Amino acid sequence: MAGALLGSFMLFAQFLFGYARETKFCRESRGVTHYNEVLTGHTYKSILTSGIFGCGHVCLADPRCTSYNCQTSAVGRGICELNDGEFSSKRHLVKKQSFVFVQVKWKRRPKSCWEAWKQGARTSGYYIIQGRAECLFYEMYCDFSSEPGWAWTLIMSQSMSRKNEAFAKEPFLKGTFKNQRYPSWENYRIGMRRMWIVRAQSSHWRVTCDFPSYGVDYRDYVKVTFQKLNPMKYHVSGGCRQVEYINIRGHNCSKCTAGWWQTETQFLTHLSDKDACQFGKTFGFLDNEANFGGYWGNNVSTEFRCSSMMTSTTNHWFGCKV
Ligand SMILES: *[C@@H]1O[C@H](CO)[C@@H](O)[C@H](O)[C@H]1NC(C)=O
Ligand SMILES: *[C@@H]1O[C@H](CO)[C@@H](O)[C@H](O)[C@H]1NC(C)=O
Repeated sequence: MAGALLGSFMLFAQFLFGYARETKFCRESRGVTHYNEVLTGHTYKSILTSGIFGCGHVCLADPRCTSYNCQTSAVGRGICELNDGEFSSKRHLVKKQSFVFVQVKWKRRPKSCWEAWKQGARTSGYYIIQGRAECLFYEMYCDFSSEPGWAWTLIMSQSMSRKNEAFAKEPFLKGTFKNQRYPSWENYRIGMRRMWIVRAQSSHWRVTCDFPSYGVDYRDYVKVTFQKLNPMKYHVSGGCRQVEYINIRGHNCSKCTAGWWQTETQFLTHLSDKDACQFGKTFGFLDNEANFGGYWGNNVSTEFRCSSMMTSTTNHWFGCKV
């Protein structure tokens, strides 16, 4: 009975608020529920509501409310007492007929795909992630399978057809975001704050080309440690930074330096026509050819998987070993 009642309460509440698919209640009234008992000495507000639905709704909407006592016998509106403070044990409850005590719990969600993995997630796909604010939940795409032993969070993805849009042009130094609640391969970029949250649980970043088609076969691919180059801080034209691995059209090297460009007006890119650093030029280059993003204003090669067609996508990930 109690389960069914609370179950329908959850449904009711989601319907009531019309929450979008990425936003879930960050608190729930599951957990401690006691019939014919109430918590005394913690009530900060007493109102009349339509049963447990109404009382729960008011409590969930008020950050101060940690539990509530609700009159179950009322026909129509009944007493709803909102409690604050910690409820630690049953001995704080007193008997009261026709009332129910319900404790509200915080829901905890992972802050990155790595944390989701630690909590048991093993299947790549969309996960609900928690933002900095206690109540901010949103979807992110997690990849646990393309590189065994690694957990990657998609933080940005663009198709070539979107290369002139602000989210694809603005460097990581700026907090531009795009559809940050709806991960997609074509036009998606999380904002700066969320990037820092994911970065805090990541040691590496990587760029893959057309991940939905190729996954990771290490052709047209790069992986770098944040220690060597942090995209959110890097502000250099043609600096040499060590990469773990880089591959453009089969030209590849491990633990070598490659040239990277990012300025106020240039998104992070590698230019394969510049004979820079250990990696140097890549055969078949075009003049001013951009790789791994930053295509706007640069040349793009159809021989590079990220840019071979208008529908090709460039995918940026933050992640680490699990
Ligand atoms: C990496 O480059 C070497 C030549 O330097 C080549 O033999 C090898 O096939 C390349 N690897 C990939 C995955 O393309
Ligand atoms: C793109 O590359 C081709 C071949 O190298 C060159 O002819 C052309 O001028 C380049 N375009 C730009 C915008 O750099």
